[in-house]
Amino acid sequence: MSYYTINDLEHYFKMYKKSVREPRKFWDRIADENFVWYQKWEKVFDVDMQEAKFKWFVDAKVNITKNCIDRHLARKGEKTAIIFEPNNPDEEAQHISYNELYKRVSKMANVLREQGVKKGDRVCIYLPMIPDLAVAVLACARIGAIHSVVFAGFSAGALEARVNDCGAKMVITSDGGYRGDKTINLKGIVDEAMPKCPSIEKVLVAKRTNSDVPMQEGRDFWLQPLLDKALDNSVAEIMDSEDPLFILYTSGSTGKPKGMLHTTGGYMVYTAYTFKNVFNYQDEDIFWCTADIGWITGHSYILYGPLLNGATTVLFEGVPSYPDFSRFWEVIEKHKVTQFYTAPTAIRSLSKESLEYVQKFPLRSLKVIGSVGEPINEEAWHWYNDHVGGKRCPLVDTWWQTETGGIMISPIPFVTPTKPTYASLPLPGIQPVLMDELRNEIEGNQVTGSLCIKFPWPSIARTIWGDHQRYKETYFTAFPGKYFTGDGALRDEVGYYRITGRVDDVVIVSGHNLGTAPIEDAINEHPAVAESAIVGFPHDIKGNALYGFIILKEIGEGRDRANVAKEINQLISDQIGPIAKLDKIQFVSGLPKTRSGKIMRRILRKIAEGDFSNFGDTSTLLNPEIIDQIKNERV
Ligand code: PRX
Repeated sequence: MSYYTINDLEHYFKMYKKSVREPRKFWDRIADENFVWYQKWEKVFDVDMQEAKFKWFVDAKVNITKNCIDRHLARKGEKTAIIFEPNNPDEEAQHISYNELYKRVSKMANVLREQGVKKGDRVCIYLPMIPDLAVAVLACARIGAIHSVVFAGFSAGALEARVNDCGAKMVITSDGGYRGDKTINLKGIVDEAMPKCPSIEKVLVAKRTNSDVPMQEGRDFWLQPLLDKALDNSVAEIMDSEDPLFILYTSGSTGKPKGMLHTTGGYMVYTAYTFKNVFNYQDEDIFWCTADIGWITGHSYILYGPLLNGATTVLFEGVPSYPDFSRFWEVIEKHKVTQFYTAPTAIRSLSKESLEYVQKFPLRSLKVIGSVGEPINEEAWHWYNDHVGGKRCPLVDTWWQTETGGIMISPIPFVTPTKPTYASLPLPGIQPVLMDELRNEIEGNQVTGSLCIKFPWPSIARTIWGDHQRYKETYFTAFPGKYFTGDGALRDEVGYYRITGRVDDVVIVSGHNLGTAPIEDAINEHPAVAESAIVGFPHDIKGNALYGFIILKEIGEGRDRANVAKEINQLISDQIGPIAKLDKIQFVSGLPKTRSGKIMRRILRKIAEGDFSNFGDTSTLLNPEIIDQIKNERV
């Protein structure tokens, strides 16, 4: 019986049981049979949920790039590892074979070494979605440098904070980047940040836009001439299984971003295993995840997961709306993509456009479609399932987090029956529990609670860079002995999980717990509503009341906003109950969103409360200008 590949539901249940009863044996087999190690482990794991200390594959020696690249060369050297699809559809796509990837990563690794980067040094990568980004990440891993990718849409302030937090020695950037019809002056942003980044010794600059950028003597170096001179083979650094692989920043509910640290062996085993099963990856497949490598989704499922399995992965530079709203579907058709993995926010925005954009393309190559990043509402689920998946591709709603490293709860395609809006069952090795306010585990089915994980898994983040205390407090103290996800979930009658949203988005109105997500779902069913966000605000009698920020589409002739507001409250009343009706409704032209598409509710909460004193860190917002507009029109 295969441990690595799950074939049917019975097999899943068997593997799941084994992973819970004999986790050492389970992970030992998977790690032993599917990877190359310089030296095997003494112990499969050594973990302490109280102190938040985790070691996986203890004392094993490994290099993740040996597993991502070198070991495929003998049989798959000429196979395409990465398909680069540029922002502009008229620019030719690039097919980078495993042989070529080996050479490019080796050259980059040699450049980094020559420029003084050593094992354990932090390298900040601030690049657009071009092949150099993938190569830079892998080159760091090859030489044991810790990569910290900063999404190339972040501002100079955000870049500076991240560079300084981890004390990076080098920044790798480019002259500029393309996104839709915009050109982003990345080098300019780096130049703005650098004077306040004392740890940075060198800035390597790749060429993408060929724009004229100033180069500071002694600090800035064009990458290409260095690569041209470098040897195209390299020896991989021998890493301990627990040596850091990367830092990736994620925003907390308060203050400064948290640098989540992931280490080598456990992350490798878990991302490979989940990629294989959650996407039903087969040898000739073409996998496309539309995330940016600046997010965990891109780390685990554009790069590491696919390459560890010797897959072909698409690296897309562009956006779903450029040159028009059919770009995603056109790219699927062009490269005969078999697995497509995107975010509900993209699906919702595309589903607002004419159906013709998607119907122009048969999309017959697709086998599996996936969703990640936020709860997918019923309407979006069906649109995606019907019009993209053609009702024949399983839709995997994958729940996980930057902190978890890999997918935790998800259907396994062709194995787990899907159910709209449900992430369904935990993957083998993952033990979710629901907890009540008194910190008791809630047993049984058809229950809701705070989602915790009660046993560690190989790719759990090991710490917050430089602040283990914060790590412990954020994730391991609310429910002692368990990892607290910050999410709420429902477990249905058959044990399927539905993630209901951040627990901090729950508002207690007159003693009733109201999740904002189901209220938003109800509102969004109104034909005039494009999008909505609900927050609580203090109320004399009810404790809290609800405030709705709502974006309208065309509302139709002869109708006014006051009527729409009434209808919205009627809809909520009908679907959830009068208790969930909104006290205040403000029609807005946009919502403050992070670059990953999440609504920054903490700002809306402040506006709803009428507290304009301090909006905290807004550096991750895509559209900071919307704050003033919403504030000025507050009802
Ligand atoms: O609230 C959950 C939501 O996204 C959070 C994690 O965000 P981040 O660290 O940025 O990672 C996103 C990509 C893995 C979670 O705590 N989330 C993620 N996936 C889902 C989800 N909520 C509902 N359903 C999902 N499939």
